[in-house]
Amino acid sequence: MSETRIALLTGITGQDGSYLTRLLLEKGYIVHGIMRRASTFNTDRLDEIYTDPHESGARLLLHYGDLTDATGLRRILQKTRPQEIYNLGAQSHVRVSFEQPEYTADTVATGTLRLLEAVRDYCDLTGNQVRFYQAGSSEMFGASPPPQNEKTPFYPRSPYAVSKTAAHWYAVNYREAYGLFVSNGILFNHESPLRGETFVTRKITRAIGRIVNGLQKKLYLGNLDARRDWGFAGDYVEAMWLMLQQDEPDDYVVATGEAHSVREFLEAAFGHVNLDWKDFVEHDPRYLRPTEVDFLLGDASKAREKLGWKPRVGFRELVRMMVEADLELAERERVLAEAGHRIAFRGAATR
Ligand code: NAP
Ligand code: GDD
Repeated sequence: MSETRIALLTGITGQDGSYLTRLLLEKGYIVHGIMRRASTFNTDRLDEIYTDPHESGARLLLHYGDLTDATGLRRILQKTRPQEIYNLGAQSHVRVSFEQPEYTADTVATGTLRLLEAVRDYCDLTGNQVRFYQAGSSEMFGASPPPQNEKTPFYPRSPYAVSKTAAHWYAVNYREAYGLFVSNGILFNHESPLRGETFVTRKITRAIGRIVNGLQKKLYLGNLDARRDWGFAGDYVEAMWLMLQQDEPDDYVVATGEAHSVREFLEAAFGHVNLDWKDFVEHDPRYLRPTEVDFLLGDASKAREKLGWKPRVGFRELVRMMVEADLELAERERVLAEAGHRIAFRGAATR
């Protein structure tokens, strides 16, 4: 009989945390997640899969913690005794990282270091082996011309990207210095109906749902020329898991190999509901970045060859999936609005 595997995730309440948790539960894992304490509930993305821990057989267990709090991380590690750790927690918004550079470095770079230090000591003290996935980003390539692969030099263009680059090298160093099983995923942009509403794809599809339902008139955006290699988050979490099932740790680019501009995303998404995006989109310089990343296009040949990974969902399907989900969501909001409930417009808080 095979032993039940135990995974520990930071960033479990985020987009990827939610998809990865579903995948791991399907595979029979016990999943422990670290969540931040907030004054409001922040587990919306997990609600569908969460069961009361008082019930026997609950396999998703949440713990309060923060990547800025080393003691707490160590305590959770000792308590949960995972075989696999997925470090997904981060202040993950590039534009916000220019406004909160120190905090971004603290969670993304030093947060990773804190967790690696905790793992190093835990392995030393217990003799247990832990496999560690580090959520790296194509943002680390920044200004390096496309296509980007594992050999492309990093040229980060934001405090977020600099912090992710530091975290990447911490991870490599802990692998080489202490023999820890640490793998870096270098993931290109991946989206879904669970994507945070301040990232450009979801900001657009959310706006479309609200425009179609008469709840919003305009959509304010920044640079429409940037090109990204957009994939589906559900596909990308499989690559994370595969990285930790290999005989040896390594670093892998995960991408679709197809890039589109923000303008093309607008055309496809508004086109899906037969609207012309130019009638609704206005420019707002607040959404520009002091230094932009113009063109990300990944070459994921290594992941394909070594992990047997390839994306299932293409660009058109991704756009359709997100627009359809946000049409449904906005329709529910409209019904509530018509019943007299106040529906908050969150546009002011977006970046
Ligand atoms: P996300 O939706 O923004 O989720 C980030 C998660 O990190 C949330 O659970 C958040 O908690 C948590 N977090 C933030 N600050 C924290 C702190 N100080 N301590 C502990 N947890 C903290 O991001 P995602 O899209 O799922 O991405 C997952 C990871 O992959 C991130 O590290 C991101 O930088 C990286 N990445 C993402 C992409 C992409 O395209 N999605 C591509 C490459 C790399 P709250 O819910 O409380 O905010
Ligand atoms: N967020 C946002 N809001 N982006 C806008 C807007 C806007 O109003 N208008 C134009 N953009 C442009 C940005 O300037 C950027 O070039 C592009 O749209 C994508 O922006 P985001 O969706 O915010 O994603 P990102 O590429 O900066 O970062 C995401 O992907 C990285 C992987 O490459 C995040 O998920 C990062 O955490 C991740 O590492």
